[in-house]
Amino acid sequence: MMRFLLALALVAAHSFLAADEEKSLSLQLPPASLEQWYRPANEHDVWLHTMFRLRREMQAVSEYAALEDGVRLKKWLARLEKDYLSIGEMVPEWKDELEDGLLKKMQAAAAAGDAEALGRWQRKLRKSCQSCHAEYKLTVALRYRAPDFSSVKVESEETLEEEDYSRAMSRLSLLLNRVKIAGEDGRQKAATDALDQLEQRLADLGESCSACHKQESTRERILGAAARASLAHVRKGLEAGDQKQTGRYLGEFAVGVCARCHAIHRLQSNMRRLLSGD
Ligand code: HEC
Ligand code: HEC
Ligand code: HEC
Repeated sequence: MMRFLLALALVAAHSFLAADEEKSLSLQLPPASLEQWYRPANEHDVWLHTMFRLRREMQAVSEYAALEDGVRLKKWLARLEKDYLSIGEMVPEWKDELEDGLLKKMQAAAAAGDAEALGRWQRKLRKSCQSCHAEYKLTVALRYRAPDFSSVKVESEETLEEEDYSRAMSRLSLLLNRVKIAGEDGRQKAATDALDQLEQRLADLGESCSACHKQESTRERILGAAARASLAHVRKGLEAGDQKQTGRYLGEFAVGVCARCHAIHRLQSNMRRLLSGD
């Protein structure tokens, strides 16, 4: 199996710390064939749903073993076997990691009414689940289920030009700071021009939310009335030459819009990118 190691250097915050105090962490990248079991390559997140079934089947096996209900136990053991073995069919790279003999042992113990042996084999099976999870659960969730901003485009209503997300973001940051700098230095026209552009770019950004959110109300939650009100106050502050008002409402806008949206989406997007090798 091809394995890629990704070293994430956690660089010590204080530069005076000795090099040997720096810590690092390595993450295991998921095998490539997993991709086909997730959206958008697949219609559903088939892999994750298989996992939810496995958890349910493990629980049913424990419960019917305790209830000594042999008929239902047999039914759920058969389902557990099918789903557990499907791991190796879906992701051949993981076939060798499976303890496929355990299911036959569990079935034999159940048939013999040996609850103690059944429990012992099931605990072993659970270890097999856990060892894969320890290595892959986090990276797979981030790689295949974190929202994918790398393919989202932001279209300018004025020029009809399309930009990728990180470019659109750099521009927002530039405009926001231009309003701040020009406002502070009393360059009113430059500041209000930048504010006009910022408002236009935010409207463009708002159109792109629908790539993932079907409901208009989601966009409004961040780019709605509160955001517009903050910027209206910024404009008044600039027109009155009131730096205090300008600064205060620009700050309110940056926290309520930029920081809030980042808290929801940005780290996940960054992690997904990192794990995709983009
Ligand atoms: C060879 C690897 C592998 C094996 C073996 C495996 N899993 Fe998983 N499992 C994963 C990965 C990868 C994820 C993360 C999927 C995701 O978040 O999209 C996961 C996620 C899960 C989840 C979702 C966890 C959550 O956060 O809600 C459950 C439940 C689960 N597995 C149950 C099981 C059970 C029960 C077994 C054993 C019978 C098992 N898995 C065996 C790889 C494995
Ligand atoms: C969807 C909600 C959302 C809003 C609203 C938002 N951002 Fe972002 N921003 C993101 C995401 C997602 C990323 C990471 C994109 C990526 O993975 O490249 C990001 C990245 C950035 C980056 C880093 C860009 C890079 O790749 O170097 C900057 C700078 C930035 N945003 C500034 C801002 C500013 C300033 C505002 C407010 C005017 C803002 N953003 C509003 C979601 C948002
Ligand atoms: C690449 C996909 C993607 C894009 C583009 C995107 N989001 Fe999200 N967003 C998500 C996912 C996934 C969640 C978490 C699940 C959910 O609530 O839908 C989420 C959650 C949210 C939430 C918290 C849940 C809620 O409904 O209150 C808000 C608010 C939000 N997004 C706003 C925005 C805004 C505003 C934009 C556009 C500027 C945007 N999103 C663009 C994927 C995306």
